[in-house]
This record gives sequence, structure tokens and C-alpha cells, in this order.
Amino acid sequence: MLASKNGFNRQLITRLHPKSPVSEAYRTVRTNIHFSNPELDQRIILVTSSGPEEGKSTTLANVAVTMAQAGKKVLIIDADLRKPVQHKIFELSNGRGTTSVLVGDFSLEEALQPTPVAGLQLLTSGPIPPNPSELLDSTAMKSLLSKSRQGFDMVLVDSPPAMAVTDALILCSLVDGVILVIKSGQTRIDIVKDTKALLEKGQARFLGVILNEVKYSGDDYRYYYYYGGHKSEEEAGDGAGQTGAGQ
Ligand SMILES: Nc1ncnc2c1ncn2[C@@H]1O[C@H](COP(=O)(O)OP(=O)(O)OP(=O)(O)O)[C@@H](O)[C@H]1O
Ligand SMILES: [Mg+2]
Repeated sequence: MLASKNGFNRQLITRLHPKSPVSEAYRTVRTNIHFSNPELDQRIILVTSSGPEEGKSTTLANVAVTMAQAGKKVLIIDADLRKPVQHKIFELSNGRGTTSVLVGDFSLEEALQPTPVAGLQLLTSGPIPPNPSELLDSTAMKSLLSKSRQGFDMVLVDSPPAMAVTDALILCSLVDGVILVIKSGQTRIDIVKDTKALLEKGQARFLGVILNEVKYSGDDYRYYYYYGGHKSEEEAGDGAGQTGAGQ
């Protein structure tokens, strides 16, 4: 794990270096989420990707921090019950979390943890279960989400990759909107389109894509932290808004 000198994980750049261009990129994502569909009540947003390690968890954590920094009451739910990392990013215990609430051991209030970021709370994954998909595809999960809706302005849900396991597909019908993270220069566009189509079949409201790890070729360290612009649905051509963030 990447821990910083002052105790914050380096992955949480919006917490460590709020004025850096990378943090600015995450703020752009926050703004674009806000404006992507003002008519929709986008309170619960699922963040997923086609494949593994595209930056879902890192992106979600940083966007959540920027939302809290803007004065919103924000909750992160780690619903990646296979490879959870939100507790590592925020350096909190994972003794109780989503799975503990789903099996009825703890209430949502009992399982939530404050983070070092004012206004941001975290429901870690909790102990990893043998049956993640069944736990997520349950009335307990629906009720967890509807409870979280009451206490927070924004709820961001972390999940496993959509093309690998069925969990994101299950979750996408329970949330208000879905965002796909795409790793720049790695994810194939046809796979992204397949993922979008799959999630839309699962009743997902597709909000857009975040292009992660956009790299600038200049030598200057400061400019290595480059971020791309936002594309409207029309410009993107496939119904995808696009924002880049590179670290
Ligand atoms: N913009 C970025 N710049 C540099 N490194 C990044 C960036 N985003 C993510 N990473 C790194 O890439 C790795 C994978 O990131 P992360 O865990 O967020 O991906 P993920 O999609 O959630 O993975 P998984 O599929 O396992 O859930 C981590 O080591 C993270 O620190
Ligand atoms: Mg992850």
C-alpha cells in the first residue's frame, strides 16, 4: 500500500495535494457528473470498468473526496466484495462493512466509518464472503442502498469489473447511474462498447466514461499530471461523456 509521510495514502491525491492539476481533473469529473443529467436524481452512482485494474477504486475515492470538499455529504460503499481496497485507500479497518450489513450483523449506522475528509463516510466491504453475487442480489442490498439514500447527498459504489463477474450488472439496476472507468491506452473501445451495452441491458442509466491515466509526454513532472477535457454525448458519439485524470 502506498502510505504517505503524513499518514494519507498516496492514492488519495485530492486529500494530499488538493491544488495539483490531477486534483483539478478529479474536480472536473465531479462537475461533469453534476451536469451530466441534471434531471436525474443521481444520488447513487456505480463506478465500474470493463476489466480489472483500470483505476475504478482510485478514481472513485478521489472523486468522492472532491465532492465532500465541495460541501456535500458523501458516502462510499465498497461493493467490490472480491478485491476491496477502499479501506486501504482511507487506511481504515475492514472488520465490518457492506457484507456485515447484508448478513444482518450490523446496521448501516454501526458499520459506517468517518474518514479523515470532513463530510465523507465509508462503508468498507467487510469480510470477504464466499458468495458475493448472491449477497449483492438481495433485498438486503436494496434496503442498504435505500437507507444510504436518506442520509447522504451522494453515494458512490465501488464494484468489480463488469466483464469479469456479474456483480456490477446486478448493482447497475439498483443505482441511479453508472460510470465506466477506462484505462487510457489499454482498454479496447469495442470492449467498452460491449460493456456499456451489457450494463444498459441490465437497466443501467449510463452517465459517461472517465478516461484514467491520461499521460502527457512532456518531461516536466508537473505536466505529467495531465488531464483531458470533457466530451459531450454528441462529441463522444457513443453516448459517453469523457473526462481524463492522470497520476
Ligand atoms: N490515474 C492514475 N495514475 C496512476 N496510477 C493509478 C491511477 N489510477 C489508478 N492507479 C493505480 O493503478 C492500480 C489499480 O488501481 P485501482 O485499484 O484503482 O483499479 P481498479 O480498477 O479498482 O482495480 P480492480 O479491478 O482490482 O478493482 C493501483 O495501484 C492504483 O494506484
Ligand atoms: Mg477496485
